[in-house]
Amino acid sequence: MTGAAGRPQHQQLISLHVNGELHEVLTEPRRTLVDALRHDLRLTGTHVGCEHGICGACTVLLDGAPVRACLMFAAQAEGREIRTVESLADGRELSDLQQAFSRHHGLQCGFCTPGFLMLAEGFLAERPAASKEEIREVVASNLCRCTGYQTIVEAIDDCATRRRAALRERLEGAGQLTDGQD
Ligand code: FES
Ligand code: FES
Repeated sequence: MTGAAGRPQHQQLISLHVNGELHEVLTEPRRTLVDALRHDLRLTGTHVGCEHGICGACTVLLDGAPVRACLMFAAQAEGREIRTVESLADGRELSDLQQAFSRHHGLQCGFCTPGFLMLAEGFLAERPAASKEEIREVVASNLCRCTGYQTIVEAIDDCATRRRAALRERLEGAGQLTDGQD
């Protein structure tokens, strides 16, 4: 059966702003965000594990904050800025966070990795000076069966440390950092 606009009545047209691009998606109202990303937009970097909010494999950023994309409908993300793991690398150049995961062996099978990366990306944007203890607490929200978490914590901490050092360098270069300021 089709509706007035010539589309099947059980489908709706929604607009999703993903990784800086606007997409029009014809999908079912009950489609979850993670399914819309993976199946409608073919952004398969975001993984699906438990599908009920436990594992965090489906973590993406919504207006900068990490969310479980299996726990919301795609239609609820209309008008919001969505970022997936595909937004991190610049072409073949991995982001600083991805490089830190690689340096510290913060992944083994890699299934959980997109979720941890987006969780960490959102967290560090909010808390650039987070302590290792705080990082440890945050990553406890996602499940990894392989690494034992220590290398993930080391990677995120290393990335945060390097970002702070780079910022300090920039501020010093611009003469905006006074003595004793961190
Ligand atoms: S797939 Fe979403 S939390 Fe596990
Ligand atoms: S690297 Fe295998 S589940 Fe985390």
